[in-house]
Amino acid sequence: MTPPRKLHIKSYGCQMNVYDAQRMVDTLAGEGFVETASAEEADLVILNTCHIREKASEKIYSELGRLRAAKDQAASAGRDMSVVVAGCVAQAEGHEIIRRAPVVDVVVGPQSYHHLPQLLARAKADGRALETEFPVEDKFNFLPQPSPQAIRARGVSAFVTVQEGCDKFCTFCVVPYTRGAEVSRPVAKVVEDVQRLADNGVREITLIGQNVNAYHGDGPDGRPWPFGKLLHRLAAIPGIVRLRYSTSHPRDVEETLIEAHRDLDALMPFVHLPVQSGSDRILAAMNRKHTAADYRRVIDRLRHARPDIAFSSDFIVGFPGEAEEDFAATLALVDQIGYAAAYSFKYSPRPGTPAAEMQETVSTADMDARLERLQGLIDSQQSAFNRAAIGRTVDVLFERAARKAGQIVGRTAYLQPAHVMASADIVGKVLPVAIDSLERYSLLGSLADPRSTSASGDAREPALIAPPQAVLGA
Ligand code: 5AD
Ligand code: SF4
Repeated sequence: MTPPRKLHIKSYGCQMNVYDAQRMVDTLAGEGFVETASAEEADLVILNTCHIREKASEKIYSELGRLRAAKDQAASAGRDMSVVVAGCVAQAEGHEIIRRAPVVDVVVGPQSYHHLPQLLARAKADGRALETEFPVEDKFNFLPQPSPQAIRARGVSAFVTVQEGCDKFCTFCVVPYTRGAEVSRPVAKVVEDVQRLADNGVREITLIGQNVNAYHGDGPDGRPWPFGKLLHRLAAIPGIVRLRYSTSHPRDVEETLIEAHRDLDALMPFVHLPVQSGSDRILAAMNRKHTAADYRRVIDRLRHARPDIAFSSDFIVGFPGEAEEDFAATLALVDQIGYAAAYSFKYSPRPGTPAAEMQETVSTADMDARLERLQGLIDSQQSAFNRAAIGRTVDVLFERAARKAGQIVGRTAYLQPAHVMASADIVGKVLPVAIDSLERYSLLGSLADPRSTSASGDAREPALIAPPQAVLGA
């Protein structure tokens, strides 16, 4: 028997890439590959890349430099190493990668991962680098299902893609170009995936897509289903105790989604809802198709439907033309909403996007200063949110043994890690935990009486942090 070949895969960027990496592992498992944590000893190295910001793309070229040394070393030991660049940089800059990095054997965009085994074989036979492009629809039809063993090894929480691509065309964003037009998977396929994961021990599903709440997959009744209806269907699958989704667009928060938050206990009250800026002038230049007031209204409706809901968001500082007063409007919005977490980025021009042509650029010094102020404000909100859990009893879905012996780690509804001393058989269960301290971002506590939880069931309390200026019902 030939020994298994070793595969090393490194993913950058979003959850969709993490999910895609798992699908590539599943595809290549069928070809006799097993995963290794070491790039040096791998027969196949895949870099699953992200193109969203300049820094993310540039990392790839330095990584490829390191891989060249590893490949040379493997060759001098008489071993063949193949290097694949996948993901959005591959899609956007295929030719450039092959020109700049001869170490690369195959360049493959997100729509073509199911062709990887054939591509590798062809690159080897031809003795030259290969680049591909296939239609989007292919991907959903051909990707293999993970084996039950693979599902169990990955634990109690899993991602499921429900849609891919984006038709929004925010002026700063490469996603509509790298991931293509919006495509939703049929309801039956999503249900089948979730059922299979649940049957093999998964308890929490995060539905993912670039614009997940734009979902409109065909339902079993032959009509397109809105996202909220899909959530209702999935919440009925036995074994699924938690549902999440990411990433959503404020414009696509429609009534069925609000109702899902009102009606489904399994739908976690923590929503990532990027706003990007608090200035209407900048939101218009970004082509976001909503104002700051529209965004606040969406937040209000969700808070009204589910009082314990909390939010995270994405922000861009230094978008072309952003003046001090625009930035002040962003700070004011953050102040008003009160986030549990948020990500903020300096604007980075992406080739081919409309914003990259805009002339009124913001200086690096101004961008740095604004980023620091915004992150300071977000950090203080996040700390307050985490500290507010101390002294409460909250539900935790336990995921695995922690590094410290005897400790088990799980996550709260708000994705905060929570540690308790307990036996390993609590993995996969949602149990109430009395939180008594906070260590950096982790909550520490002990298992509580199952009847004492204050953050589940019908006894929903207001969010752990009251927004500094409550907008609810405004
Ligand atoms: N520059 C800076 N940040 C960006 N993002 C997307 N494109 C850019 C860009 N060109 C940020 C947005 C988005 C998150 C995933 O990345 O905030 O929501
Ligand atoms: Fe990019 Fe999101 Fe805008 Fe789509 S909605 S273009 S993914 S920022």
